[in-house]
Amino acid sequence: MDILVVGSGGREHALCWKMRQSPLAKRLWAAPGNAGIAQCARCVPIAANDTPGIVAFSVSHAVDLVVVGPEDPLTKGLADHLRAAGVRVLGPGADGARLEGSKTFTKDFCHRHGIPTARAIACASAAEALGHLGDLGFPVVVKADGLAAGKGVIVAANREEVQSAVERLSGTGHLLLEEFLAGRECSLLYLCDGHAMVPLAPARDYKRVDDGDRGPNTGGMGAYSPVPDAGPDVQREAGRQIAQKVLAGLADEHIDYRGVLYAGCMLTGDGLKVLEFNCRFGDPETQVLMPRVDGDIVPALTACADGRLDGVRIGWRDEAAVCVQMVSRGYPAAPETGMMITGLEDVPEDVVVFHGGTRRENDHVMTAGGRVLGVTACGATMAQARERAYAGIGAVRFEGAHWRTDIAAQQGVTAKEERQ
Ligand code: AMP
Ligand code: GLY
Repeated sequence: MDILVVGSGGREHALCWKMRQSPLAKRLWAAPGNAGIAQCARCVPIAANDTPGIVAFSVSHAVDLVVVGPEDPLTKGLADHLRAAGVRVLGPGADGARLEGSKTFTKDFCHRHGIPTARAIACASAAEALGHLGDLGFPVVVKADGLAAGKGVIVAANREEVQSAVERLSGTGHLLLEEFLAGRECSLLYLCDGHAMVPLAPARDYKRVDDGDRGPNTGGMGAYSPVPDAGPDVQREAGRQIAQKVLAGLADEHIDYRGVLYAGCMLTGDGLKVLEFNCRFGDPETQVLMPRVDGDIVPALTACADGRLDGVRIGWRDEAAVCVQMVSRGYPAAPETGMMITGLEDVPEDVVVFHGGTRRENDHVMTAGGRVLGVTACGATMAQARERAYAGIGAVRFEGAHWRTDIAAQQGVTAKEERQ
């Protein structure tokens, strides 16, 4: 098969890395890819949101499967255009992608279909939001309605903080005030073909930029899988309360959803609650999930794109995986770019470095974005995976590099224990 991966981040690198190992994958392209992806796929200079360019390339190269990484092209209908041109694609159409593209749509969808989620008030304007300032108590979460790459969410502790959060997000369109949920987060991803869902292993990512969950929200500073507190009981509850209800809701609303459904959940004292849906693989969750997949991922992705998921199963290796993101100085607000990266060739063999924002300049790899490298390792225990990942970090350098030192700290569980 000839496969095209759309995107240029660590998630797309992890997907290409895994699919490169498939005997089914003949030619593998990435649009536009990055310096790391270029090691396992042919990068073509087409931007991820250049819909006509991606459709034209897929048709002219008779691509057998397009895997869309980022949400932006999906919300703009890339998958619809590809399907209309007869190209097989993993990713929902624009109607399904609203589950990520609009937080108010998602809230309404959850209410319509009885999916547990935080209480919320949708506000058409900043003035309306300020009118509801104390209605949900404090702390309260202020969210921009549309896509914001994980940066459109502010947890506000008191009235003054709500006011400034509303001011900061007011230019972005509709706002949502949401009840603050205490608990531990968990990313539950499913392959979904509109009729069936196949769960991926639970993963946990770290949203805040600094150790101890301090500082602003980011796209993700690291991840690990398995998740000790999302064992079989939680996964069954998620199947009943989320996956089954989403499937019923999609059918009810005539949404033909063939792609990844990512439920960002909070494990609360009152059960699982959905914080958000994403319409794609998580980043950096994919960097810890792909190394744990036992066997070939291509058949499952193809079955999902074809609507043949029923009976498909994905196996998971009894290993833990940890990914630590090295980010640029200034991330997430204003990341510096253009720094030379050294030491990539000194990384131990049991570590995989997934590239995010990198580009090649002559013989050098340079930083080209906020999340630069996802340094990833597996191990028999989480502690071992973590130790290896941080050993990898120790080998790599670029000016202003920042990373969290507490990713997967104190997670002693093994994958085997997770299933018992
Ligand atoms: P979202 O994009 O909606 O997932 O929000 C990004 C991050 O903000 C989440 O991963 C949580 O860490 C935090 N967050 C969002 N909503 C809530 C909530 N209702 N209660 C507590 N934390 C939240
Ligand atoms: N890791 C969060 C996301 O992919 O949205």
